[in-house]
Amino acid sequence: MTYIDRRSFLAAAGATAAYSMLKNADAEPVVGGNRHGPVVIASANGLRAVERAFDLIEQNTDPAAAVVEGVGIVEADPDDMSVGLGGLPNERGVVQLDSSVMHGPTHRAGSVAALENIVHPAQVALKVLQTTDHCMLVGRGALEFARANGFPEQNLLTDRARKVWLKWKRNLSPADDWLDDDQVDLDPADPGHPDEQHTMLDTPPPGWPAGVPYTTGTIHCSALTADGDIGSCTTTSGLSFKIPGRVGDSPIIGAGMYCDNAIGAAGATGRGEAVIESCGSFAVVDEMGRGLDPAEACIAVLKKIVDRSRRQKRLFENGKPVFNVRMYALRKDGAFGSASIFGGKNGTAFAVCTSEGARVEYGPSLYTR
Ligand code: GLY
Repeated sequence: MTYIDRRSFLAAAGATAAYSMLKNADAEPVVGGNRHGPVVIASANGLRAVERAFDLIEQNTDPAAAVVEGVGIVEADPDDMSVGLGGLPNERGVVQLDSSVMHGPTHRAGSVAALENIVHPAQVALKVLQTTDHCMLVGRGALEFARANGFPEQNLLTDRARKVWLKWKRNLSPADDWLDDDQVDLDPADPGHPDEQHTMLDTPPPGWPAGVPYTTGTIHCSALTADGDIGSCTTTSGLSFKIPGRVGDSPIIGAGMYCDNAIGAAGATGRGEAVIESCGSFAVVDEMGRGLDPAEACIAVLKKIVDRSRRQKRLFENGKPVFNVRMYALRKDGAFGSASIFGGKNGTAFAVCTSEGARVEYGPSLYTR
């Protein structure tokens, strides 16, 4: 038996070096057939992420480091208003980011929540995993940890996101001192709306002001190497205009993402509270462990989320929830899939990269919009 203690792990020069050591650890049982890695999957906004992570895995990069690097492209993209730089802020106009990462071969996890001023929360989460005995750092502590590790600080609120936030404030209530859009002389050239091509917008809950964008968008990415090792990562700016300090599912291990090197990986985007209350990603991996296909496992968990929402008697109208959740699953044998509560006529889109290249594929939805 190969035993890798913590000191040896930390002494490894980097994630790739650590991976070379760890992949020789005891072989684990494969569920459901032959191994078909590398495979990388992500939410629909992760097409560039899957391509990058796939390339890195082909160069023998550790799967956790590869997915963190892949989602970093989207974290640094100011046009994606659901992740990292340019993400929609909280109700005070401050961008607070959440992220988690998990390393299949060692079953270690790291995460950060309510982190401000750092473009790459996923990299900070990976540092938590690699260099501490903790799983999760939040708020000021997470920022101090990022500073100590040399992460640069910057204001994450872009002009576009600031204008969308102001639009939300103006239209929140006719009773406050902010004039509604139709009472204000606005510059029509101002981009007071998100870049819809990049941002995963969601259908807002009942009572949301008309014309104000709403997002629980996020990026999730999971990877499987040719040797059958798994890494998983989720990163987000969370619910738009949330109460300061609100933490969604993305940094919660087992909710926003989870992996078990013997079974597979899963991740979630959409309404974080619903995913947390059903331990969504853990539940999908668990269903795959019981023999369900990846898409079937996603559907089984989404049905439970819908059923629990019905029992909660909130955010439920006309026999359906008023929010969306999308789940993504990658199995140890290379099978992958995704499903959502609501989807378009083709179902729900997600990104995948295999030896056939990066592309968008579609999974089933419980309801069509
Ligand atoms: N799924 C992202 C969030 O709810 O924060």
